[in-house]
Amino acid sequence: MKRKIRLKIRRHRPGSETPPRFEIFSLTIDAESSVLDALEMIQGGQDPSLMFRRSCHHSSCGTCGMLINGDERLACVTRISQFKGGTVTLEPLPGFPLLGDLAVDMTPFYRDIDEGWDYLRGAENLGGTKLPDGVERFERFENCIECGCCVSACPVAGEEKPFMGPAALAALNRELQKTEEPATLPLLEQAGSERGERLCNRTLACSRVCPTAVYPARHILDLRTRLRGGRREP
Ligand code: SF4
Ligand code: SF4
Ligand code: FES
Repeated sequence: MKRKIRLKIRRHRPGSETPPRFEIFSLTIDAESSVLDALEMIQGGQDPSLMFRRSCHHSSCGTCGMLINGDERLACVTRISQFKGGTVTLEPLPGFPLLGDLAVDMTPFYRDIDEGWDYLRGAENLGGTKLPDGVERFERFENCIECGCCVSACPVAGEEKPFMGPAALAALNRELQKTEEPATLPLLEQAGSERGERLCNRTLACSRVCPTAVYPARHILDLRTRLRGGRREP
């Protein structure tokens, strides 16, 4: 079924003389299309200068995170049909430097994620499956797709703020879970530093917006408990 919609998109190029503004684009699109499909229609037919990031189109690459009607979401898996009104508002993720329109610079996201941390984990739900010769276990990628939605939603994380942020702390905790003592010590020191878990105020926004069920707040609570000798918060 086709549907008429309006996308209200925040436009701005840092350094340009044109101040930030919202522009409205009207289009007719299949109701089951995604917000990303709509953006590509606009870019292809109405305004090729519209900037946004995307790659996989199926919630794997993490590049299409943006504010959709005020919530951090992936544009590629957000269906037009779920919006009752005729206008959908799109803005770039707060907390990151703006590159242009809906595209942000993800460099700060990686500030506290060590490139040596393991992004593979043992695969689940394969009980009884025979391993091929020479293979010790099946592996898969960690859940985090590095979309930045949790950092954007976190009230104490962001570009100019000291907090490591929910994604980095979740990745740190996963690395800790895979690490044998005494190699855990530098990880615990990082988690317990002035920029670490102590700055989290447990609003849980990070876990609420994460599209891949990483639940960063749960990892931060794990770290906090471990750093306090196993005592859970009251
Ligand atoms: S629980 Fe902590 S890390 Fe998550 S959004 Fe709240 S303050 Fe940020
Ligand atoms: S933890 Fe979730 S919300 Fe945060 S960057 Fe990873 S996938 Fe995105
Ligand atoms: S385009 Fe890859 S997650 Fe949306």
